[in-house]
Amino acid sequence: MKLLVTGGAGYVGSVVTAHLLEAGHSVVVLDDCSTGHADAVPHGARLIVDTLRDAAETVLASDSFDAVLHFAAKSVTGESVRRPGFYWEQNLGHSLALFDAMRRADVRRIVFSSTAATYGDPERTPITETDPTRPVSPYGATKLAIDTALASYADLHGFGAVSLRYFNVAGAYAGLGERHDPETHLIANVLAVAAGHAPEVKIFGTDYPTADGTCVRDYIHVADLAQAHLLALGACAAGRHEVFNLGRGSGHSVWDVVKACRDVTGHSIPVSLTEPRAGDPSVLVASSRKITDELGWKPTRDLHDMVADAWALIQRA
Ligand code: UFG
Repeated sequence: MKLLVTGGAGYVGSVVTAHLLEAGHSVVVLDDCSTGHADAVPHGARLIVDTLRDAAETVLASDSFDAVLHFAAKSVTGESVRRPGFYWEQNLGHSLALFDAMRRADVRRIVFSSTAATYGDPERTPITETDPTRPVSPYGATKLAIDTALASYADLHGFGAVSLRYFNVAGAYAGLGERHDPETHLIANVLAVAAGHAPEVKIFGTDYPTADGTCVRDYIHVADLAQAHLLALGACAAGRHEVFNLGRGSGHSVWDVVKACRDVTGHSIPVSLTEPRAGDPSVLVASSRKITDELGWKPTRDLHDMVADAWALIQRA
């Protein structure tokens, strides 16, 4: 298939692009490189550096695309609280520009990168796709609005759309890994200490109602996540919008992650115990039963694999 990947210079977008190319698809990446990196776009994909608002229309009209995979977004929760208008404009505004350009070019298949942040503070664990969506950050709210818009475009314009709600993505694939600035994610921050880039890692809160008092998350390897996108692409059905959670269905605490990183790196990794970070729910674990039952997706890599692959990439740098 001929595919347009928005945000293909970012962490998840670049890894999915690598998988699409390996599967024999032809890929054009559209990315403004505001947070992504041009050198992360895998060889074999063509990169166009521009915004969705300015370029989606011309790019989609210039060729006959079969589908779009839409990753381009602002995705730092804390920043979204400080700059909500910017997040609404960049995430929802640019997505609507993309969807209208798709409609005009008659490209109606789309896989969208949604998030567990759409659920907010869950009432129960594991979270299923029919659970209430009550985002607690502008970031989560913008992603939920885009999911909702896709449901309308499916209804009214015949789009075949799939929203994949990612839980905590980690690991590396084919030389591609996390390169956020600033880095806020746990595994990257813990490994930065082992690599000597920081003296210690802060553990945000030790008094949560969990077995060891630290927050529990559902970590998923970026390569397993990428496989789900290939399955989702095959599942886009005209007039339908489907939502799938993507996690492994098992939770790991912050302490579990620190221990896994100590095991993999052999480094003592000093920690400091600090106050909780605002807005962190104590437990976020996905039920991924729907995507397993309906699309046959099965994650094959565990927390140890995620840490080991991320660490191998850091050591190569
Ligand atoms: N944490 C620390 N120290 C750090 C970094 C994180 O203790 O240096 C803790 C956090 O408080 C949290 C856990 O580790 O309890 C995981 O934090 P991350 O920042 O790695 O991930 P989040 O769960 O906050 O966020 C991720 C994605 C978001 C998405 C969210 C949905 O990054 O984009 O999952 O669940 F919205």
